[in-house]
Amino acid sequence: MDSSAASIPSWLLRHLQQAGEAVPFSHYMDWVLNDPEGGYYGSGAAVIGPGGDFATSPSLGDDFGALLATQLADWLGTLRASGGTLSVVDVGPGEADLSVALAEALPALCAGFADRLELVLVEHNPGMQRRQQARLAGCTTLPVRWSSWEELQRHPVQGVLLAHELLDALPVDRLIWHEQQLRLQTVALNADMRLQLDSVELPDALRSAIASWTAETGCAMPPPGAADGWTSEWHSALPAWMAQASDALSTGWLLVIDYALEAARYYTPRRSEGTLITYRQQRAGADPLTHPGQLDITAHLCIESVIAAAVAGGWSALDQRRQGEALLALGLAQRLHALQALPPTQLSDALQRREALLRLVDPMALGDFRWLLFGRGVGSRFSDPDTPDTPDTAGSALG
Ligand SMILES: C[S@@+](CC[C@H](N)C(=O)[O-])C[C@H]1O[C@@H](n2cnc3c(N)ncnc32)[C@H](O)[C@@H]1O
Repeated sequence: MDSSAASIPSWLLRHLQQAGEAVPFSHYMDWVLNDPEGGYYGSGAAVIGPGGDFATSPSLGDDFGALLATQLADWLGTLRASGGTLSVVDVGPGEADLSVALAEALPALCAGFADRLELVLVEHNPGMQRRQQARLAGCTTLPVRWSSWEELQRHPVQGVLLAHELLDALPVDRLIWHEQQLRLQTVALNADMRLQLDSVELPDALRSAIASWTAETGCAMPPPGAADGWTSEWHSALPAWMAQASDALSTGWLLVIDYALEAARYYTPRRSEGTLITYRQQRAGADPLTHPGQLDITAHLCIESVIAAAVAGGWSALDQRRQGEALLALGLAQRLHALQALPPTQLSDALQRREALLRLVDPMALGDFRWLLFGRGVGSRFSDPDTPDTPDTAGSALG
């Protein structure tokens, strides 16, 4: 696979020429997403939402954040006795849709301790942070601040860390099965100055990480029956991120919400091109070398890998749920029902919200997203109207 020289922007050419040799795919992905001059998020070129490149749950309207706020308020309420500030940290806030909805909904749901709440946004990319600051400039419902990830680790908070569609944006390595050898995919400039995918032998550190994962999960890599050319993703950045996340939180929860698959569905011979996907103007694509810096590149998470990285990083795995079930337990059906009571003057708003609510639980799309819950010094699970919380036993709910 290669791409035309005309489409290689100067900032990317600089990175590749400085490297002087083929680089792992993860380096290329990091540059095209996060380079401050030309990266998709780094430059602020990303546009998230139904009218942008791709939609996320919070970008469909405030209902998602309002429903999630009821869950967060429940958890935060259990930390009331500890005193001090209770922080809700939105890591990778994008357009800040989730932060805005939480800022609106949380104070009323936290009666008696709303004055102890704060909202913290952690954004890696200055281009996106500028947009978030403009979006939240007039927020008066609770204190809002931005923190660097490093600063948060130096001064940990208690409360909830939210990683909503963040981990799928972390650069991934790509593994390729070639001539009976598992290799690392690379990106290079060829003699015609075009971007080209190639591969090298697996570095020792990656080989041993895969061997440990195989021993732990019992899944083979590549899966038996993989054909020559079989390719998939490996989230090398997850262990460090999870360890840093646990340093950033003294007590509380980490909620990961993302598209994710079980290892047996992720690493299968049938998924021979992996899960990597690009988005631009609502169109999905499979070629990560085209339009560098102008499209999103993302990969599904492997559930077992997320859990293994979290546990190694100091988290207890508490619970997991599909988004559809989680939102129904939090009252999505009641919200849908309540739309019927809106007056005819609000018909267009009601129809739009109805469509958004249905999209959030569509089992073929956002409803299949996974909510993965981790804790530090806490034991709660997801709210379930049918099964009361069992905080004492929740710690053993996941591997
Ligand atoms: C796919 S968007 C998700 C946006 C938002 N959470 C949503 O769901 O609508 C990823 C966001 O994470 C940011 N980001 C990427 N890597 C990051 C990192 N290591 N730490 C913090 N933010 C990061 C991007 O700049 C972008 O704002």
